[in-house]
Amino acid sequence: MSATTAEPVRNPEASAAVEALGSYKWGFSSDIEQEFAPKGLSEETVRFISAKKGEPEWMLEWRLKAFRTWQTMAEPDWARLSIPPIDYQDAYYYAAPKAKPTLASLDELDPEIRRTYEKLGIPIEEQKVLAGVEGAPKVAVDAVFDSVSVATTFREELKKLKGMTDRPFAVNLNLFPMRQPVDNREYVEILVEEGVKIVETSGHRAPEDLARDLKAGGVTLIHKCVGVRYALKAQSIGADAVTVVGYENGGATGTLDVTTLCLVPRVVDALTVPVIGGGGVADGRGFLALLSLGAQGVIIGTAALVAEECPIHPRLKQALIEATELDTMVVMRSIQNSHRVWVNEMARKVAALEAQNAGLEAIVQAAGGDKAKRMYEEGDVQAGVISCGQGVGLVKKVRPMKDIIAGIIQGADDLRKKIAAL
Ligand SMILES: Cc1cc2nc3c(=O)[nH]c(=O)nc-3n(C[C@H](O)[C@H](O)[C@H](O)COP(=O)(O)O)c2cc1C
Repeated sequence: MSATTAEPVRNPEASAAVEALGSYKWGFSSDIEQEFAPKGLSEETVRFISAKKGEPEWMLEWRLKAFRTWQTMAEPDWARLSIPPIDYQDAYYYAAPKAKPTLASLDELDPEIRRTYEKLGIPIEEQKVLAGVEGAPKVAVDAVFDSVSVATTFREELKKLKGMTDRPFAVNLNLFPMRQPVDNREYVEILVEEGVKIVETSGHRAPEDLARDLKAGGVTLIHKCVGVRYALKAQSIGADAVTVVGYENGGATGTLDVTTLCLVPRVVDALTVPVIGGGGVADGRGFLALLSLGAQGVIIGTAALVAEECPIHPRLKQALIEATELDTMVVMRSIQNSHRVWVNEMARKVAALEAQNAGLEAIVQAAGGDKAKRMYEEGDVQAGVISCGQGVGLVKKVRPMKDIIAGIIQGADDLRKKIAAL
């Protein structure tokens, strides 16, 4: 077969080779239509690749000269490798996704490539550039079909956590839509394998399928939500406890906008399983108030952000210490992902984009985790958005977490005695 007649194929041999290597459980491979050079390495292969890349004649000559020189060379043995001889003729030296010259829209792209772009979390506009959609900017970029497994990192972090305490701990499984979609069943599998005893899920719906696997793995399941009907649903799918947080809370607020003071007793009255309450708790007063409302446990997020141990930049902690209860706002409601966040330049920008109906991609770009990372790690406090509740007005200094908790318990106890003496 002549090299230049190679047709785009789903190459069974190459696919089988990838399959054979595919013992890496958490990775993925994509069966996309590709164009291969004929197997083996020859001058024909060099000419084929050079033609594919549209190289000038002089560059092809230079490559051929290099190839001929390589053919005269002996394999070095200085590395003293104990490996079988390499069969250079038993490999493919060129494979590329088959591309249509210009696509009118992403709908014309090979669905398998499209799915892979989605899996890799590549934004729509970048997908258009990569796929060569008409009208998209022409830039020198390529999609690298490789991925670092998020699940592997997750397992490593769990192992680290287990090494830090011999006490039970809970892990939050965030089921909200992600820019980079993840398969939560993988996380559940890892949580069970690593012996995690408590999992708190949170998201738009109670996780029926995950609940089954978590419970079968002996995990105590807590589901976090923001309304009576969601709490009832969570109970019905077997949640051992339900967390509810009021509208003032930092992070996801949902759409019901019920405040902590009303939500917690309503849910306590409706459920038979224990209720954990939160939203706005930052000191002993809030803690005791939540217990008075019938909660059997209390969740605190915003106040923990300024703990000494919290790995966000000191400049960001200082900005939060200086913030008041008026310095939060709810963003991303237009994309069904309402979050209460600290008011800064980026939060205002997100709100402005929403007011202009800028659409999902632009909003997610602005509020995305990469920008928040810059904020957390480099202290560029305007760079991204950070979840933050109205309770931020109650936090006044950076302290070790132990002192924050001890202060809350002591404050609640003092208050309890004071009330009892009334
Ligand atoms: C910075 C930050 C990040 C959060 N991330 C998550 C998360 O990933 N998943 C989740 O279920 N809740 C998340 N939350 C919400 C908290 O778990 C908790 O429900 C909430 O902070 C309680 O309200 P409070 O902030 O008024 O104390 C986050 C909250 C903050 C402040």
